[in-house]
Amino acid sequence: AAKKPLTGRHVLVTAGPTHEPIDPVRYIANRSSGRQGFAIAGALARMGARVTLVAGPVALDTPPGVTRIDVETACQMADAADKALPADAAVCVAAVADWRTSDEASGKLKKSQDGLPHLNLVENPDILARLSSGGKRRPGLVVGFAAETDDVVNHAMAKRLRKGCDWIVANDVSVESGVMGGGDNTVHLVTDTGVEDWPTLPKQAVAERLAERIAGALS
Ligand code: C5P
Repeated sequence: AAKKPLTGRHVLVTAGPTHEPIDPVRYIANRSSGRQGFAIAGALARMGARVTLVAGPVALDTPPGVTRIDVETACQMADAADKALPADAAVCVAAVADWRTSDEASGKLKKSQDGLPHLNLVENPDILARLSSGGKRRPGLVVGFAAETDDVVNHAMAKRLRKGCDWIVANDVSVESGVMGGGDNTVHLVTDTGVEDWPTLPKQAVAERLAERIAGALS
């Protein structure tokens, strides 16, 4: 059999949402299922890569051959991603919460006569931007995702430059697209040389196509 194209390569993948605690029973979260990121991790492993999958809270099985590190919060995800380096490529698929509360309440917040509780939000680390500007430790290929609801490609092109990553996989997550939690995905691959519009495909097929492109870029 032919040698698998990613044999000897290490790829870091982030996937899933993050949960940012408000108090012991509540958290800030989002609708990411983790399915696209897990599919990408599995496809990379099937092509021979050593894959470190840093996963937020999701209800998914670990793809065969993938090393999974479970985390809850964006800060934990950033730490785990950092510890996983060096990597030949990084694919940031996680829907990282933009904000966390500045301090988690030690007890459950109570309803009170004196008004609403006040959540003090602070910005979370941007894992993709950090990996992209990583200096000597920067993975040779850094791929980000962009979930957009309008003007998908233009926003993705701007995001590629702003984050400093090599590629952006842009997907349309407007409500009618059914992407969040659904089985299919319609994406556009934005690179330094242009934009490719991919047909609507099952997330598994998007993962395989992307893994093939990553193998091509690393070869
Ligand atoms: O800025 P925005 O969240 O739209 O960017 C999406 C891309 O950035 C995704 O690849 C996501 O995984 C990554 N990201 C990240 N850390 C954050 C926010 C986004 O890695 N704090």
